[in-house]
Amino acid sequence: MNLLFKITYGLYVLSARDGDKYNACIINTLAQQTSNPEKLSITVNKLTYTHSMVQKTGFCSCAVIGNDATIDLIQGFGMRSGREVNKFDGIDAASTNNGCLVPIKGIIGYFDLKVIEEIDMGSHTMFVCEATDKVVFKDEVAMTYAYYRANLLKKKDQAKKEAYICTICGYIHEGPIPDDFICPICKKDKSFFAPYAEEKKEDTSIKEDVSKESYYCTVCAYVHYGPIPDDIICPICKHGRDVFVQQNK
Ligand SMILES: Cc1cc2nc3c(=O)[nH]c(=O)nc-3n(C[C@H](O)[C@H](O)[C@H](O)COP(=O)(O)O)c2cc1C
Repeated sequence: MNLLFKITYGLYVLSARDGDKYNACIINTLAQQTSNPEKLSITVNKLTYTHSMVQKTGFCSCAVIGNDATIDLIQGFGMRSGREVNKFDGIDAASTNNGCLVPIKGIIGYFDLKVIEEIDMGSHTMFVCEATDKVVFKDEVAMTYAYYRANLLKKKDQAKKEAYICTICGYIHEGPIPDDFICPICKKDKSFFAPYAEEKKEDTSIKEDVSKESYYCTVCAYVHYGPIPDDIICPICKHGRDVFVQQNK
C-alpha cells in the first residue's frame, strides 16, 4: 500500500499563457495555504511545458475538476505535452480574467493565480500564489485523486483489455465495440468480429511479453517493461521512480 495515495487530493487543470501560446496540464498538488488573503500553492514538475510558462510569466489559472469529468479531459491535458500539441484544439474553453484559457466541460470553477514565491523542491517547483480572482461554474462535487484512480483509471484499464478481432481481415478493435461498427480495413460489420481475448491466449509472443517484469506508473498508467532504472522519468506524466509499482513478479 502506498500511503501517499491515501491522502485526499483534488484534481485540477493548471493553465498558463505566454503571449499567444496557451497551455495547461493536470495537477493534484493545489493546496490552500491561507484563506485571508487567499494563498494557494501548486507544485509543478520542472520538465513540463506548463512549468516553464508559469515560471516565466508569474501567473496562471487553476480549474477545479468535477466528478462529471471524463478520462479524456485528464488524458488530454495530463498525458501529453503542449510542446508537441495544442491541447486546447477542439476544447470548449473560457477566457479567465488573467488571460488564460480553462476548459468548461467537467470543471466546477477556477482560480486566477499570481505567483508570489517559488520554492525549489528538486524535481519540482512549488509556486506559492495569491488568488486574484475566482469564478464558480456550478456548485458540484470536486473530483478527488482517489475517485479518479478508482473509477476513471480503472475503467480505462478495463476498456484497454477488451478487444475484438475481425475474423475476415484480422483487424483488432480495442475497447467496447459499437453496434454500428464497420471494420476500417475490410468494411465488414460488427457481426464479423470475435472477442480477441481468446486469440491472445493462443499467442505465445503475447504470453512472453506478459511474463516480463513490468512496472506501472500509478499517476498516468504508463507501463515500463523490463528492469526499471532508478532515474526513470515517466515519458507520459514525467513522474519519477517512486510512483512506479511492479505489476508482475
Ligand atoms: C492524475 C494526474 C496528476 C498529475 N499531477 C501532477 C502534479 O501535481 N504536478 C505536475 O507537475 N504534474 C502532474 N501531472 C503530470 C502533468 O499533467 C503532465 O506531465 C503533463 O503532460 C505536462 O504537460 P505540459 O508539458 O504541456 O505542461 C499529473 C498527471 C496526471 C494524469
